[in-house]
Amino acid sequence: MNVNAQALEEKLRSKKAKIGVVGLGYVGLPLAVEFARKGFVTVGIDLDKRKIDSLAAGKNYIQDIRDEEVSEVLANGKFRAQADYSNTGDLDVIYICVPTPFTENKEPDISFIKSAAESIAKNLRAGQLIILKSTTYPNTTEGLVQPILEATGKKTGTDFFLAFSPERIDPGNKKYSTANTPIVVGGVTKDCTSLAVLVNQQVIAQVIPVSSPKVAEMEKLLENIFRSVNIALVNELAKLCDRMGGINMWEVVEAAATKPFGFMPFYPGPGIGGHCILIDPFYLSWLARAHDFETNFITLAAETNESMPFYVRDMVIHEVAHLPKSISDVKVLVLGVAFKRDVDDTRHSPALKVIELLLKDGLQHVSYNDPFVPKLSVGGKDLVSTPLTEKELHESDIIVITTDHTQYDYEFIVQHASRIIDTRNAAKKITGVTLRKKIVLLGAGEHT
Ligand SMILES: NC(=O)c1ccc[n+]([C@@H]2O[C@H](COP(=O)([O-])OP(=O)(O)OC[C@H]3O[C@@H](n4cnc5c(N)ncnc54)[C@H](O)[C@@H]3O)[C@@H](O)[C@H]2O)c1
Repeated sequence: MNVNAQALEEKLRSKKAKIGVVGLGYVGLPLAVEFARKGFVTVGIDLDKRKIDSLAAGKNYIQDIRDEEVSEVLANGKFRAQADYSNTGDLDVIYICVPTPFTENKEPDISFIKSAAESIAKNLRAGQLIILKSTTYPNTTEGLVQPILEATGKKTGTDFFLAFSPERIDPGNKKYSTANTPIVVGGVTKDCTSLAVLVNQQVIAQVIPVSSPKVAEMEKLLENIFRSVNIALVNELAKLCDRMGGINMWEVVEAAATKPFGFMPFYPGPGIGGHCILIDPFYLSWLARAHDFETNFITLAAETNESMPFYVRDMVIHEVAHLPKSISDVKVLVLGVAFKRDVDDTRHSPALKVIELLLKDGLQHVSYNDPFVPKLSVGGKDLVSTPLTEKELHESDIIVITTDHTQYDYEFIVQHASRIIDTRNAAKKITGVTLRKKIVLLGAGEHT
């Protein structure tokens, strides 16, 4: 280890290292709070002034962390947030947790990483460790971030240190948080890896080193593509069950899940959303094309998952056709617009696509309820969450369950609804024959 690496190691072991976290969103804020709670002076940087103002007022905006945790580290001075990159030279470790969306043509948009790296480079100092956490395609760390940092004249592995360590946080997961979810780390050099392992070990129970940033980048994509492909598989089979009739895909998955090895259950649904599983596979297929390689599994999975909101729209239109009303008079209530259960994140949520498609089809009375999402802009309309009352349920011709939040009282919903399209098997506990007759379940082999 050279002198810079030794100095940083010493600071980390004595907890004197100052930690910086760039991007205070779903990934960055919990990480910053975790470091501050462990006693490290931590500085959060986010260009969104509203987030900085909110934190300055002691207000937390991320569901997974408790308000008291944020206010405690703000009050004891271990954590502060700022909207600029001033004084980043004072920080010893800087995590980059900025968004990695795709463009309209579904190509990677790494402009946020580039901009963060350029801002860090301005005050880069010997002995700093930079860790990229944003999910991205292999070679972003070495092919994009490293040259930006080295343009300062400083060398990776001797002057400063650089690693990739993908994030695994699962918003809404009550069992696994930042602290108890194992993570992978790949540094550009051996010292980069061992320093990145050491700093992560301060807040994360298990840290697994790999041989390079590229392996860590690819590993993260594998995790997300694995989910995308398996969800697509059950979605395809759910559609097949509906086409064939007489086989309930949910029962099939439960039966297969009794196998104690070699099978992991995935469930059908209205499609996938969020900032990860939907987007990340495209990062790899884009890179693959530059190598004259088509990632067929990824494309096929994306195609199948993307078709699901259209499939749900077709289920609704099928029900509309049986109503003694014109399409423009039909009232549809969509339940759950977050992209998954018990979170407030609506990014790329399939529920939004379903609403957009219904509006396009001429339905004029589409409303929604979501306990986590008070308002919404979709298909050129601004909507507010409708209170879930007996009257609202009665007056809706069709209710579509797109996200199965646990706080919904499904008994109450089914009781007062006339027709329900359940895309998540959310009402599975309702067994009474009369009530079940109201429900059309995606993949149950009843819808054609
Ligand atoms: N959300 C998840 O569950 C999750 C899980 C694993 C990995 N990831 C990955 O982590 C990364 C971050 O995701 P997120 O969900 O936290 O995003 P987010 O949108 O919630 O947060 C990103 C933050 O970065 C800020 N930002 C953008 N550009 C900046 C810049 N140049 N300097 C400073 N701040 C900047 C934004 O204002 C925003 O607050 C993405 O690559 C994502 O794919 C997310």
